[in-house]
Parts: sequence; C-alpha cells; structure tokens
Amino acid sequence: MSTSLTIARPDDWHLHLRDGAMLSAVLPETARHFARAIIMPNLVPPVVTGAQAAAYRERILAAMPDGSSFEPLMTCYLTEDTDAADIAAAHASGLIKAVKLYPAGATTNSASGVANFDNVRDVLEKMAEIGLPLCVHGEVTDAEIDIFDREAVFIDRVLDPIRRATPGLRVVMEHITTKDGADYVLANDHDLGATITVQHLILDRNDMLVGGMRPHYYCLPILKRGHHREALLAAATSGDTRFFLGTDSAPHPTHAKESECCSAGCFTAPNALAILAQTFEKAGALDKLEGFISRHGPAFYGLPVNADTITLTKSDTATIFPAKIDAGEHTVTVFDPGFPVYWDVT
Ligand code: DOR
Ligand code: ZN
Repeated sequence: MSTSLTIARPDDWHLHLRDGAMLSAVLPETARHFARAIIMPNLVPPVVTGAQAAAYRERILAAMPDGSSFEPLMTCYLTEDTDAADIAAAHASGLIKAVKLYPAGATTNSASGVANFDNVRDVLEKMAEIGLPLCVHGEVTDAEIDIFDREAVFIDRVLDPIRRATPGLRVVMEHITTKDGADYVLANDHDLGATITVQHLILDRNDMLVGGMRPHYYCLPILKRGHHREALLAAATSGDTRFFLGTDSAPHPTHAKESECCSAGCFTAPNALAILAQTFEKAGALDKLEGFISRHGPAFYGLPVNADTITLTKSDTATIFPAKIDAGEHTVTVFDPGFPVYWDVT
C-alpha cells in the first residue's frame, strides 16, 4: 500500500554548500528537492561583502546540475568591520536575503564573527530600517558556560538585548535546539522566527552518546535532552508560521567527522524531506508538513510560495539512501536517522 502527498516545493532556510569540489558534489543533493535555500556564508575566508556574495553566487550557479532552476538566496557574514552601506546596497539589488551573525568562535569557520556587539550596532539599525533579516547562530562562546546551556544563555545575554535595542529588526533564530528557544519565539511577535533542523527533531543527546560516540550526529548547537527535542517537534508540528525548516545540512569529508576532533555538522540534504515526512506522520501531523517546509519560510522572508510541487510517497519497503556521496578526493557521509524510513520524494 502506498500513501502520497503532493505539496508546494519546499525551500531550505539554512544550508551550507561550501565551495569547489564539495560545492559541486553537494549542490545536486539540495537542488533535486528544494527550490531555494538560504546559503550560509561561513567559507574560508567568509563571504563578508556584497561583491563576495555576488562572486559566490556565480560559483554556485556554475556548479548547478543541468536543467536545474534551484535559486541560491545569498547572505553576508556579519563582522565588526561590516559596512552598513555595502549591505544595504546588496539588499537593494536583490542579491542578499539575510545577514548572518556568528558569535566569534561559536562554530565551524566563525573566527571572524562578532565579539563586541556595540561594533555592529549601525549595521543592525540599517537592517531594521530596510527590513533585512538577521540570521543568528544563537550560542554564547564563553568558556565557563556549559555547551548544553549556551543557547539559553545566549537568548538572555545577547539576543534579547539586541532585539530590545533594535526595534523592528527581523531575526531568525537559526537551528533552535531547546525548549527555551521555542518558548522565546512563542513569547515574541512575528518579527522573530526560528529554523529547526531534521536531526534536532528526531534525535537527542542519548542518541549521540549512549553506547559509543556517533560523530555523524555531532553538530552545533549540540543535540540536547529529550524534552527539548519534544518541544521542538511540538513547535514544528504546531502549524505556527514562525517555525520553518532550515536543514543546516553541513557537509564535511568523512575523515574529518571520523577523527579525533570531529567537525560539527550533519549532511542531511539527500534525505531530509523523506525523514521529515515520516516524522510528521508519526506525530499525527502530516497536514502540518507543507506549512513547515514550504509555506512559513517564504512568508517570513516576504517571498512567494513556490508554484511547482513535489510528491512524497510512503511505501511498504524502506527507502535506500546512499551511505556516502563522492566529493572530489573525499566522501561525505549521508545522515543516517537510525531507523528505517518508508517515505521518499518521488
Ligand atoms: O554543526 C554545524 N556545522 N553547525 C554550524 O553552525 C556550522 C556548520 C558547519 O559549517 O559545518
Ligand atoms: Zn549552519
């Protein structure tokens, strides 16, 4: 018996595509299912200026599979030297759809991020004025704060003060991982949204740590306790338009994941939608899937919902996903949810 669901084509509101051979390898995996994606700027060196975002967009378009109409939505990386006028011009031309804030040192390639928020005040004020969203990696980086508390502390110490000081600033809390994050969104207005990843909806820290350390489940912000996962699933399946999919699909070479100092990131682009269909079905919320993956994100960003559709189908036999994909001289290991998935994009 098969069940199928046809919905507006989804977008990914938080994606890492990298550059060079890795870009060429992973781009088709996203372009196959998604119409658009917000492209993270944490290259080495980061994409800081409008000119750099334009050049990166050209490299993405050059790596596009034949016949694909995938649209990369570019971002600039906020640094303490960011020029507000340059960002405003990149927004006015339609090139960039958001600016990304990484607290300095928070995650992969975040060394150029912001340490002193007073130094980005003029940029944030300009963004509020022109309606350009700020995408936030919401973790403090202070050594004395436990890694499992870094999101909650960030909300109190950094995010809430920034939002109070910058009325009208539209903010996306990227990849929220805690009940604190979901509750903060719910307690605020529609200037505040949040993306949620696949892995944070289906896994908790036990899945990563009990019985041995599973490096392919290590990402940042790190997986939390089970009750946080439950709060995220409740938010994602609630139909509340402030929550939408951002996979944070973050490819690293397999050897860099399976190493003494594991790189953070889960590569979910190939199977994100299949896993989500199963997860929403299990939660009795299949009717809320289209909102979460195809409608709430465009509404937040002020973009049209995609006119074309995809069909998700459930069958009696488990879907086989590739274990790895080739990326130049390396491989990238595809996320394994740890349970059989019976859905697929057909
Ligand atoms: O797990 C993560 N990987 N979290 C991030 O914030 C960055 C990302 C990456 O670029 O690999
Ligand atoms: Zn990310």
